[in-house]
Amino acid sequence: MTDRPAILIVDDEKNTREGLARALRGDYAVAEAENGQRALEWLETHSADVVLSDLRMPGMDGMALLSRLLGREPRPVLILLTAYGNIETAVEAMKRGAYDFLAKPVNLDRLELLLKRALAERRLDAENQRLKAQLDSKYGFGNIVGDSPAMQEVFETIRRVAPTRATVLIQGESGTGKELVARALHQCSPRAEGPFVPVHCAALAPTLLESELFGHERGAFTGAVERRRGRFEMADGGTLFLDEIGEIDPALQVKILRVLEERKFERVGGTETVSVDVRLVAATNRDLRKLVAEGKFREDLFYRLYVVNLTLPPLREREGDIVRLVQHYLKTLSEENGKKVAGITAEAMDALAAYSWPGNVRELRNVIERMVVLGSGDRLTVRDLPAALRAGDGAAGGTSRAGRALRDAERQLIEEALRRHKGHRTKAAQDLGISRRTLHRKLNEFGLRDSKDGD
Ligand SMILES: Nc1ncnc2c1ncn2[C@@H]1O[C@H](COP(=O)(O)OP(=O)(O)OP(=O)(O)O)[C@@H](O)[C@H]1O
Ligand SMILES: [Mg+2]
Repeated sequence: MTDRPAILIVDDEKNTREGLARALRGDYAVAEAENGQRALEWLETHSADVVLSDLRMPGMDGMALLSRLLGREPRPVLILLTAYGNIETAVEAMKRGAYDFLAKPVNLDRLELLLKRALAERRLDAENQRLKAQLDSKYGFGNIVGDSPAMQEVFETIRRVAPTRATVLIQGESGTGKELVARALHQCSPRAEGPFVPVHCAALAPTLLESELFGHERGAFTGAVERRRGRFEMADGGTLFLDEIGEIDPALQVKILRVLEERKFERVGGTETVSVDVRLVAATNRDLRKLVAEGKFREDLFYRLYVVNLTLPPLREREGDIVRLVQHYLKTLSEENGKKVAGITAEAMDALAAYSWPGNVRELRNVIERMVVLGSGDRLTVRDLPAALRAGDGAAGGTSRAGRALRDAERQLIEEALRRHKGHRTKAAQDLGISRRTLHRKLNEFGLRDSKDGD
């Protein structure tokens, strides 16, 4: 009998209440209350799947009851009963979260239909919630920190598109978490048990990249002593992650386009057509649209990749996330490094929050790791900050002063890194947690172009 859905009928008119109760008792477990206050009291100790409430009642009316129900977990479905003249209020109630309304006198057939529909939707909702919670806790965006609206939107997109095979293009500055998101897309997909195969497209010369991606037949070129499977084949049943796709050579772009269109290709030096079931996720820190406009990236491939677009905002634009990330990394990195760190002073946190983080999350992680490892006291203070960030805490002055302080800090960090690595730009960029390209841009910006390039 507990399997029957529970309905709470709230109405000050005894006749209406009892009439409805009688009609519904066969299929539902029915309870009654004479106003909103009584309904809430009953709900303290019972739960209802549906609350069927009159709108106008002495004491707490239907509208007030609605706002009290909204905060409850699980929230019952609220259906309002309203006299003819109150339709407007009922519509307003729906905007605020009521499920639907019925005009009085109640047409019982319509009520039954409405209840069936509401309960079916509620079951679906509950099921979705459960699956969502399961996914989140299993693969978590747990390891992706982000409370900012921008990141919440990213999570929502991941949830929406992970179950599909749609190609996803992830864009964002260096260090914003593109690879992390690519992995989350795989982990939250039905392919999670299959392979996740990353390819760093910028790391290989075009011909090498081609055989890396598509594999080659024996004797395809000098040195090809045996047949080799490419990454597309290795990713069969899983996800292929093409990182830094903006760097791919035009000839190879054509081949990738074909695989996306037909899910078929030939190995280098081969004639046999290979079919694969691969979900493609691509990432770039370049403005692909601009590359298309400049004729450096094929427009047709761009649109194939752009089916779902996920743009990761730079860290400096994610309000509140810097503080959360600092806390996250203080905890995890002090554990990893076997250091006891009790916390960080407000002043030091302010300086971290005010910094512009050109290397985004990667740079933040590196800074915190250095502070944790080198920190002396158990509480990190401004003194533990890298010199450049300490200089940056003049942020209290007007925006232009703050802006200048930040630029000075950035410039100083870059100069220090270059000195540490004797002018070796690639190493300096790695140390700073920014790409070589970003470093190059910054050097131009700061007029440091003439510093010796030790690469
Ligand atoms: N939201 C986040 N929460 C926690 N850690 C993050 C987050 N975003 C990025 N990271 C961490 O920052 C580092 C850089 O992330 P990732 O490698 O995914 O960046 P990327 O965008 O691929 O950078 P690049 O363009 O330089 O390849 C990694 O250590 C990653 O775990
Ligand atoms: Mg990356």
